[in-house]
Amino acid sequence: MRILFIGDVVGKPGREIVRRAVAGLVIELDLDLVVANGENAAGGSGITPSIYRELIAAGVDAVTLGDHVYRRKEIYAVLEGETNIVKPANLPSESIGRDWAVVQGRKGTSVGVACLLGRLFMKPVDSPWQAADRVLAEIPSDVRVRLIDFHAEATSDMQLMGRYLDGRVTAVLGTHTHVPTADECILPQGTAFQCDVGMTGPYESIIGRRIDRVMQTTLTGLPTEFEVATEDVRLCGTIFEADPESGRATAVQRVCITEADLPRLEALGRDS
Ligand SMILES: [Fe+2]
Ligand SMILES: [Fe+2]
Repeated sequence: MRILFIGDVVGKPGREIVRRAVAGLVIELDLDLVVANGENAAGGSGITPSIYRELIAAGVDAVTLGDHVYRRKEIYAVLEGETNIVKPANLPSESIGRDWAVVQGRKGTSVGVACLLGRLFMKPVDSPWQAADRVLAEIPSDVRVRLIDFHAEATSDMQLMGRYLDGRVTAVLGTHTHVPTADECILPQGTAFQCDVGMTGPYESIIGRRIDRVMQTTLTGLPTEFEVATEDVRLCGTIFEADPESGRATAVQRVCITEADLPRLEALGRDS
């Protein structure tokens, strides 16, 4: 089966390209499942119930989150009520939301999905290593295909998580830095890995925000509003192919969709 994992969807530009591209991508790339990180979908930080529904309506089957999970408190009810959206599993055990989800691919294969936060250069959270062990033990054992979104800042942390889970999950794919890395591979025990799949949003930016605003604040120390940028919008993510029996990854490939691809993908999506 073929699964597309879409990196951090940033603000309205990110949501727009998801809305316009995903149905066509499902056809063109013969996808069985689409998962997206939605932590920046609402104005660049957090996610709301209507935006969650917008992503699902666009063809996203499951949503992962990150350090901005609780930025918009309207999402709490969705985190408690819906079965296809996960919060980071190494937040305190009292935190709202589910630590893992099992969703169905288009041909009926069950896929386990979870996300974890890194600790290097990030706010203190519980051990992602222990949380990974716990989540993998909790997901029903007949669910062989498993995707872990590791939401982390440091490439060393990300590589370590790849090695820690090699052979135990189908894919460890990173998010959070908003910059795609060129290191996608299948690790020795059969886990697809990439430090960061990149963001889905405006690349003429500083990780999604207006360059002038970030520059001004950085140079002067004076606060500004870090508005979401608008130009050079791309959908970045990574596709991996999984053997449903063994849960091993058999192929991995980066995807970068630009605005130039949209007429073709929209036409394909309309025909579906
Ligand atoms: Fe992010
Ligand atoms: Fe993040």
